[in-house]
Amino acid sequence: MGSHILVAFTLLVLASIVLASDPSPVQDFCVATNDPTGAVFVNGRFCKDPVLATADDFYLQGLHLAGNTSNLQGSVVTPANVAQIPGLNTLGISMVRIDFRPNGLNPPHTHPRATEILVVLEGTLYVGFVTSSAGNRLITKTLNQGDVFVFPEGLIHFQKNVGPTRAVAIAGMSSQNSGVIMIPSTVFGSSPPISDAILSQAFQVNKKVVNLLQAPFTANSGRRSDL
Ligand SMILES: *[C@@H]1O[C@H](CO)[C@@H](O)[C@H](O)[C@H]1NC(C)=O
Repeated sequence: MGSHILVAFTLLVLASIVLASDPSPVQDFCVATNDPTGAVFVNGRFCKDPVLATADDFYLQGLHLAGNTSNLQGSVVTPANVAQIPGLNTLGISMVRIDFRPNGLNPPHTHPRATEILVVLEGTLYVGFVTSSAGNRLITKTLNQGDVFVFPEGLIHFQKNVGPTRAVAIAGMSSQNSGVIMIPSTVFGSSPPISDAILSQAFQVNKKVVNLLQAPFTANSGRRSDL
């Protein structure tokens, strides 16, 4: 009896480790299709018949091209996830290219489903994340070309171009679809908005200040196109 409990406990621990990123595939691949046969939802995408998979299901071109950083934040994320590469379905991995103009910022955000590992290809980035406990410790680093930095799953993080030139980074994500929660636009630009009373109490500022913080996100021009 005791050994059964031990086995169950061990399996539970192992399961929680495995589920730290997307669930592992139970077949070679599961290429996503937009042609589901039934009106049911799955945790991921429907799979096409494996014999119909082609090289293009695992392929994307264009990540050498700079994204358009002409927005208020001066940065843009070009994704290469299951939406662009159907062959990533169930594989628990994806990547992004991030472009920054001088002074550009990738605002504080979290990825609910992925740890991120970033490498700087060009320029200089000041990056950081905040721990969820132990006093919300801010951990930062200035990165130059070739430097690699890790943003643990779910933690709020940011990247800022502090060099005189453009900056370019590539980041790997431990999810086929990491998701992104931009803190400013999520908190102050939700639709419909979180009430002034809630935000005012949460941030301990008056409603005028809340309205000021909401203003960039109620005008279309304030939103980054990838948000
Ligand atoms: C970049 O985006 C801006 C703002 O949306 C737009 O005016 C401009 O034409 C774009 N540039 C290119 C090269 O697409």
